[in-house]
Amino acid sequence: MQHITIAIDGFSSTGKSTLAKQLAKELGYVYVDTGAMYRAVTLYALQNNFIGDNYFKVEDFVLELDNINLSFKFNDSLGFSEMYLNGVNVEKEIRTLEVSSFVSKVSAIPEVRYQLVKQQQKMGEGKGIVMDGRDIGTVVFPQAELKLFMTASPEIRAKRRYSELIKRGDKVRFEEVLKNVQERDYIDSHREDSPLFKAEDAIEIDNSNLTLEAQFESIMNLVRMTM
Ligand code: C5P
Repeated sequence: MQHITIAIDGFSSTGKSTLAKQLAKELGYVYVDTGAMYRAVTLYALQNNFIGDNYFKVEDFVLELDNINLSFKFNDSLGFSEMYLNGVNVEKEIRTLEVSSFVSKVSAIPEVRYQLVKQQQKMGEGKGIVMDGRDIGTVVFPQAELKLFMTASPEIRAKRRYSELIKRGDKVRFEEVLKNVQERDYIDSHREDSPLFKAEDAIEIDNSNLTLEAQFESIMNLVRMTM
């Protein structure tokens, strides 16, 4: 069977990474969570005071991009890769609501996108990859053999994200999680550079009422038909 590229795009908290991890495991492919890369760059901007509640020093931050080193390291016991920022594991820090509330602003900057897209394309050179994000089927791998576009209602998505955060021990209110999900969707789909939209040849999956198992089965059928 030939190795293919699987591009998964869609709105926030539609279960893209859960699906991508399942597919990568089943197929023995590499999984790349591009959201984690944008989140790590945002964490760097926050840690170094380039962005805050009422300011964003965009020009200074752009000059700093060469000092940001991102890498993934596979964690055997977890069964997936974790995000490292300048050699430090930041997997937990990048998932906070604080990072979520700034990430769409940071990822709207063309220079940030240019650098990360270049790295992502390099990772996918050998195919056998599942990558999820917002512009994978449209910009990063427009030639991907299989493109999926995930959707679900905002309330269902916010509920999923809220449960994740509560499980991790974060103190958040449902309303603020819902607001964040809606704001990110708006900024992500209205930005000038690489806005989120469904590629013409992507298959749309609305998983509002699908179990994980049913979703995985139907997508594995698509994968088999594509290979
Ligand atoms: O996938 P996740 O929700 O973790 O992504 C966080 C944010 O990173 C998104 O809301 C979006 O602003 C940005 N992102 C992006 N392009 C990608 C992946 C993520 O702009 N390919």
